[in-house]
Amino acid sequence: MTKTLLLLAGDGIGPEVTAAARRVAGRLISQGLDLAVTEARFGGAAIDVDGVPLTADTLEAAKAADAVLMGAVGGPQWAGQPYDKRPEAGLLALRAGMQVYANLRPAICFAALADASTLKRIHVEGLDILFVRELTGGVYFGEPRGIETLANGEKRGVNTHVYTSSEIERVARTAFELARGRKREVVSAEKSNVMEAGLLWRQTVQALRDAEYPDIKLTHMLADNMAMQLVKYPKQFDVILTDNLFGDMLSDEAAMLTGSLGMLPSAAIGAAGSPGLYEPIHGSAPDIAGRGVANPCAAILSLAMALRHSLGQPDLAARVEAAVEAALNDGARTPDLGGTLTTAAMADAILAHLK
Ligand code: IPM
Ligand code: MG
Repeated sequence: MTKTLLLLAGDGIGPEVTAAARRVAGRLISQGLDLAVTEARFGGAAIDVDGVPLTADTLEAAKAADAVLMGAVGGPQWAGQPYDKRPEAGLLALRAGMQVYANLRPAICFAALADASTLKRIHVEGLDILFVRELTGGVYFGEPRGIETLANGEKRGVNTHVYTSSEIERVARTAFELARGRKREVVSAEKSNVMEAGLLWRQTVQALRDAEYPDIKLTHMLADNMAMQLVKYPKQFDVILTDNLFGDMLSDEAAMLTGSLGMLPSAAIGAAGSPGLYEPIHGSAPDIAGRGVANPCAAILSLAMALRHSLGQPDLAARVEAAVEAALNDGARTPDLGGTLTTAAMADAILAHLK
């Protein structure tokens, strides 16, 4: 059966980096991979044409595909709009609609890039952290939300941080399962010292560990302390389990440890057998969009994650990852990595290792 990959290029540098990933997919297809690639409008690009960032048709196409590869969403031209008319709302609706509740964000430092980090080489060389971020709950989706005007004329902004035990348990299970393929160590972050939902998080994760994963070493860490520990001694971490908001912040922090935000892929997965959503974590980067200089590595590594987690091709995933590493070892660098290569030339350098 032919597998299907839906590309959602989106905004900013999204179209540039997904075009590079599409070339890599095309190379694998020409070598025998049975994959059909389609595209749909998404984010601000869809708002401009369809009036909404994610049409019902596009969501249906995403749910029907085997994997979805997204570029990036957002940009200054849509920033003044109400939340439901912003590109980001399309991404949240896509994550919720596909029910991809576990977001895997590996922070791996390639040896060739150890000097590109703002931390000393000794702290980042060999770094290999896997974030498992809850993606369809918490304060991103909690109700009530909104800005209201009070009787005295003052305004009040409200968001709700809320988790049920089943939402916590299913993402914790993903983290424990993945930890079994690694060092069997999970550090879970919350703010149980001030938040009830954080306390429930801690208790639920511990209970699941005790009942089903006694072989996993589980440590609980307050999220503010984790922010500090990530720059103090990042190599203490193997698998990190977080809620939606803390995971957003802490994974950006960890990304920078690896040298460039332009390197990090992600995978969002849900129940077994359902399609995954793959995206570079760097965002739309409006400052460099349209200039053809964006680093395509994160998008290409996201394609590799799709091959591994949704398309049943772990060997091809490893080949693509090895090709990226080999290109870096050759000295291939886009400007974010201190080099001068264009997006297309960086893709060429990677394709040269996929002959
Ligand atoms: C991310 C991004 C998104 C998030 C935005 C674009 C909605 O920052 O994937 O980390 O906050 O989840
Ligand atoms: Mg983010």
